[in-house]
Amino acid sequence: MTEHVVCRLDEIPVGSAKRVSIGPRDIAIFNVGGKLSAIANRCPHEGAQLCLGRVSGSARADRPGQHRLEREGELVRCPWHGWEFDLATGKSYCDPERMKVRSFEVSVKPGDTLAEGPYQIETFEVSVRDAYVVLTL
Ligand code: FES
Repeated sequence: MTEHVVCRLDEIPVGSAKRVSIGPRDIAIFNVGGKLSAIANRCPHEGAQLCLGRVSGSARADRPGQHRLEREGELVRCPWHGWEFDLATGKSYCDPERMKVRSFEVSVKPGDTLAEGPYQIETFEVSVRDAYVVLTL
């Protein structure tokens, strides 16, 4: 697996989504309450951009008129026809075994661990032994 630096974390504020492209892949990254999820950005139904969808949960009802919201922040609803996809797995809510979008691993890393910067000079190991300076090349 190859890691790709796609943006700074502050470009995806809590409650938002960002569309990124890596080669031919169109990917939607969501920040729900500080937790990042990444799925393919193309809905398998008719191709809408899932990054434009609304993040929500699922409504459950034990009887008419009494419903409750479950899994808040775990599903994205396609903006065109409302199909819902699990942000963690990419599986659709209505047919999870047959209908899904690809999900991707996403993480946040400190910038200094990702890039050393463009300007570097050659360095050498230096040590001191019995008052003699020793340079190792
Ligand atoms: S294009 Fe997504 S549900 Fe139709």
